[in-house]
Amino acid sequence: MDIRIKVPVLLSAVVLLTASCSPQKPISGNYEVVPLPKQIAIKQGNPFLLTGKTTIVYPSGDSALSHNARLLSGYIEEATGFRLPVKEENDASGKLIRLLTDKQIKEKEGYRLVVTENAVEVAGSTPAGIFYGMQTLRKSLPVCDRIPIELPAATVNDHPRFAYRGMMLDVGRHFFTVDSVKRFIDMLALHNVNTMHWHLTDDQGWRIEIKKYPRLTEVGSIRKETVIGRNTNEYDGKPYGGFYTQDEIRDVIAYAAERYITIIPEIDLPGHMSAALASYPELGCTGGPYEVGTRWGVKDDVLCAGNNQTLSFVEDVLAEVIDLFPSEYIHVGGDECPKVRWEKCPKCQARIKAEGLKADNKHTAENRLQSYVMTRIERFVNSKGRQIIGWDEILEGGLAPQVTVMSWRGMGGGIEAARQKHPVIMSPNGFVYFDFYQTDRVEEEPLANGGYLPVEKVYSFEPVPADQLTAEEQKYIVGAQANLWSEYMTTYKQVEYMTLPRMAALAEIQWTMPEKKDLNNFAQR
Ligand code: ACM
Ligand code: ZN
Repeated sequence: MDIRIKVPVLLSAVVLLTASCSPQKPISGNYEVVPLPKQIAIKQGNPFLLTGKTTIVYPSGDSALSHNARLLSGYIEEATGFRLPVKEENDASGKLIRLLTDKQIKEKEGYRLVVTENAVEVAGSTPAGIFYGMQTLRKSLPVCDRIPIELPAATVNDHPRFAYRGMMLDVGRHFFTVDSVKRFIDMLALHNVNTMHWHLTDDQGWRIEIKKYPRLTEVGSIRKETVIGRNTNEYDGKPYGGFYTQDEIRDVIAYAAERYITIIPEIDLPGHMSAALASYPELGCTGGPYEVGTRWGVKDDVLCAGNNQTLSFVEDVLAEVIDLFPSEYIHVGGDECPKVRWEKCPKCQARIKAEGLKADNKHTAENRLQSYVMTRIERFVNSKGRQIIGWDEILEGGLAPQVTVMSWRGMGGGIEAARQKHPVIMSPNGFVYFDFYQTDRVEEEPLANGGYLPVEKVYSFEPVPADQLTAEEQKYIVGAQANLWSEYMTTYKQVEYMTLPRMAALAEIQWTMPEKKDLNNFAQR
């Protein structure tokens, strides 16, 4: 089916809110939002009338729910123009929206929304669960300017399909300001995404301040120019840069945490390291000179795996990253690391020999060397009480013992990792790479990274390949993620353009139970 014919412009959850309002009579809310809740039961009885006199209440003294209540008030004001007061439960009467904790609700991100004539109750066993109930409530509202809204009497019971619901933002190729990243986080919250994977370093730019290595940002955050178009031989001749201070990083982490979003930082290694090599050439196999990347693609120069100084550098960087980010998982990349330098480097070859790393019919000695590096890094990260994630190339030399695999070159890496009993996040480029074109009419589009990924293809993605994994193995698929690589996204506006409405389809992959998924119905919503 081609939804373009049926729904000329398939709008995202954000834009769907902009239904028109008639000034005369109340307008009705609708709980069939994106992502579609598990169970919506419309009840007999009068609707709840939401007006400027409605009060939002939370249990007295509950600071987490006080915070949630304030967020909800902001969301409702954004949609309706009504600025609802927020009060402790003991201080309020009349028509109420009540936030409350109910430990009987089993799923920790689940919620129950009960609407009667007198109250709207949003219950969850955790503040995060209540937050998702709030998201459904806010999306149920039409957008209008201070018109009373009738919310039908109903009970909505809901919880997510996957615990890991991710979206990656690449700030290495293009830098987005703290305000833009916060807006991106707002967009994640609206779509019930609970993890932002922040790709902070790449060949074309190092974007995170590291106190011990100031040149990473002094040198590594700036490229002297940028290639024009898709790796033509022309350059714009303009320096391009940007990075986040550690204070800014903390500010973004806190902003995300207030919205129940965990940020997983990525330091991509041992490949995609040109910006670090330009800053500290001694970290490479040849000693350079190196430059911060000005073209897109994969570079032959990578970190030298035979150099102890390089491994200390990685540990120092990760130590600062771990101090900043409270996330259980730290992404250490592992993708697209050519081995041509290692094959020729005396230090790398000496390490291969000293560690007894041998080629066999599945792995080259250099792939084994990458696995050796990843395993050492894993041990370090584990010693700090954290876990690592790597892209699926890390299967090639054998997996580090505890690593979670992010499968991007299709589903094959994820399937293999699940069979080896490793947690897997499915993120196949054919379904969830949002840097691909959204339409085949590419001449009407801003430049993108080729490909063709319409929203209906995103929607068709099923992260659990039930025909290839046993029931036991399927449990290792912890979730799904879409990736936003920013080579061709020069402005934040373009980030949103490429993300929406595909993120709406992603939301239903991550949250909604597969038996409830229906493309036609999704398109209407
Ligand atoms: C990737 O797309 N290189 C993970
Ligand atoms: Zn080397």
